[in-house]
Amino acid sequence: MDAYSPLKTPVSSRRKTTSGTLDIVLSVNGRDHRLSVDPRVTLLDALREHLSLTGSKKGCDHGQCGACTVHVDGQRVLSCLTLAATVEGKAVTTIEGLAPDEGRLHPMQQAFMDHDAFQCGYCTPGQIMSAVACVTEGLAETDDDIREYMSGNLCRCAAYPNIVAAVRQTRDEMKGERS
Ligand code: FES
Ligand code: FES
Repeated sequence: MDAYSPLKTPVSSRRKTTSGTLDIVLSVNGRDHRLSVDPRVTLLDALREHLSLTGSKKGCDHGQCGACTVHVDGQRVLSCLTLAATVEGKAVTTIEGLAPDEGRLHPMQQAFMDHDAFQCGYCTPGQIMSAVACVTEGLAETDDDIREYMSGNLCRCAAYPNIVAAVRQTRDEMKGERS
């Protein structure tokens, strides 16, 4: 499903309060959260400022760096370009909810550690969320594919070769799990 598809229900006909805020329920990392937000609030701001989930980073706030990447119904989405109200009823996953269990890393998180695929770490949550989707979408067959499909995630520390190596390792591990 296109994460940027228009609202099925117009904001104006939802539960708008007298103060002009909107009552919504966001499903994030398997938990429902009831929020009263400005209809214009982005998913990124809802996560960071209303739910204190600060793993998703605000880099450009204009859809140009990928630092804010999260999954919505399993697809990567730029949360700075997505209105929170448009993802009501969908499953949002952030870097905080990626690991399968508490105390265990997702294989992609482990691979980023193994390959030293970060320096300052600011872009890393977005890189990892994008990388997981890249592998699950079958778009990580070659290094060129990885570079192409990860090209929306910028790294000012230029950890790109290490990021490609981490994605390659996880792709092979995930393929091994499937076979
Ligand atoms: Fe969303 Fe840069 S903060 S793309
Ligand atoms: Fe610093 Fe990517 S690790 S921006």
